[in-house]
Amino acid sequence: MSKPKFCLLRIFKRIHYQMKMNKKNTFFTLYILGLSLIITSCYYGNEEDLFANIECRTEGLSYQQDIRPIIANNCLVCHSAAANLGNVNLQNYEDLIPYINDGSLLGSIKHEPGLAPMPENSTKIDECSISQIEGWIDEGFPNN
Ligand code: HEC
Repeated sequence: MSKPKFCLLRIFKRIHYQMKMNKKNTFFTLYILGLSLIITSCYYGNEEDLFANIECRTEGLSYQQDIRPIIANNCLVCHSAAANLGNVNLQNYEDLIPYINDGSLLGSIKHEPGLAPMPENSTKIDECSISQIEGWIDEGFPNN
């Protein structure tokens, strides 16, 4: 169980975040939100479960700002144009398109059967990054 101090801090952070994201929110909904958070978080206090989804933005993402860094940090060590392991180059936007279209970009990072699980010999990349790549693909993978 988390300490009440941290619990309240998290609730205020949550409310602050909501206000930033959606100015139409009334104080009433914030109040209800805070109240339900107090009840759930203070009793079961699992920080990760509570905030993982809230702080992971998966809509309106940009290739340059959001997607490129994920690929760069997790994949380019093996899939730069120079490394090209497995004959897979993911260095630039254009390079991703065939793997988006055949489903292997998303499938490999989700460790779906029939595809080589990526990153090779490693655990999955974090769930938020996977959801962000998925969200960006669902929105037509804009080159922005
Ligand atoms: C440590 C090196 C390494 C890293 C890191 C790595 N890969 Fe790979 N990747 C490989 C190798 C080697 C292959 C060829 C595997 C095979 O054919 O069995 C491959 C194959 C692939 C394929 C083709 C899969 C298929 O079954 O057709 C895709 C797509 C892919 N990688 C995407 C990624 C993505 C996305 C990341 C980052 C999240 C990543 N890889 C990270 C080494 C790596």
